[in-house]
Amino acid sequence: MTYTEIFEHLHENPELSFEEFETTAYITAILQSEGIEILPLPLKTGLVARVKGALPGKKIAFRADIDALPLEEQTNLPYKSKKSGKMHACGHDIHITTGIETARLLQKKRDELRGEVLFVFQPAEEAGDGAFEILNTGALNGIEAIFSLHASPLLEVGEIGIKEGAITAAVDLLKIKIIGTGCHGAQPQDGRDPIAASAAIISALQSIVARNVSPFRQAVVSITHIEGGSNWNVIPSEVLLEGTVRTTDKATRDLVNTRLKKIVEDVASAYDECAEVEINAGPPATNNDASLADYAWRTAESCKLTPVRPEVTMVGEDFAHYQEQFPGIMVWLGVGKTAALHNPAFTAQPKAIEVGAAYFTELILRYGSES
Ligand code: NI
Repeated sequence: MTYTEIFEHLHENPELSFEEFETTAYITAILQSEGIEILPLPLKTGLVARVKGALPGKKIAFRADIDALPLEEQTNLPYKSKKSGKMHACGHDIHITTGIETARLLQKKRDELRGEVLFVFQPAEEAGDGAFEILNTGALNGIEAIFSLHASPLLEVGEIGIKEGAITAAVDLLKIKIIGTGCHGAQPQDGRDPIAASAAIISALQSIVARNVSPFRQAVVSITHIEGGSNWNVIPSEVLLEGTVRTTDKATRDLVNTRLKKIVEDVASAYDECAEVEINAGPPATNNDASLADYAWRTAESCKLTPVRPEVTMVGEDFAHYQEQFPGIMVWLGVGKTAALHNPAFTAQPKAIEVGAAYFTELILRYGSES
């Protein structure tokens, strides 16, 4: 089966986080037909395959995420999603196919391959914690490095975005409750208005990025959901706020979350009201290993590709969880300039898979022999 056939099949059959049953079976069947070993692991979805080199060497890993998004595809592709309300709009179909193709190429080059490569096909990246499903199996224990990619609609095919440190941000999920006392809209003096307090809180929260965070650091505070009241003439007793904090280093993450909690509680208190602040930590910022980044850059040049240094983006990526345990690098693979990731009009040029697979094959083969 060619890589375009595999890619088109995956694109037509997207599955959401933790529901990647057919996708897992499909990847397994292709790899097994090539004689590639699948590790026996207690995973409901996702898998880890192994390509063992003929020469002694290190154990490394390559990770591709496999889930799709709850979006209705809006493209005219002949291989458009067949599942209504589901779409590979984040390019994970590109990641899977690049992983399969790289595994197939290395399986054919086992004579030159040192050590072994674990191919991780990870479920539920979009849910924010699928990485733990893989990490908790212990299958990666003892690896010396982990490589990954993300499709980039900001780069042309042939361009690879490479940078040390953070390329994506730490994610925190906010849930805030402002609790006052409800009363008649005509008689505010009888209650404590949580809508007025919320308005002051939302405005004050913007002072964190403007006044507390160093201008040389990155941070975002967004309130994205506000809910309170049900009627035009009644002041409610509670308001719910939700939102997110994004940062790219631990100190800034701690600073923003501490300031946020203080501002919400103290402003609520100034209005004689109470606040409940829940901050749920998502993945930290990705943290690309500097020497792997340098190595990835040199390999791109020797593959006659164009390495470019990307800006950090404030989206989240659970590859960061692997990097908490092992040196790792995620690169941006150019898929041609198109609509943004998570946009229903997102498309990727399949040619990027061939570029990506040749690149990772070279990266892995050389890593074994250089280090
Ligand atoms: Ni993604």
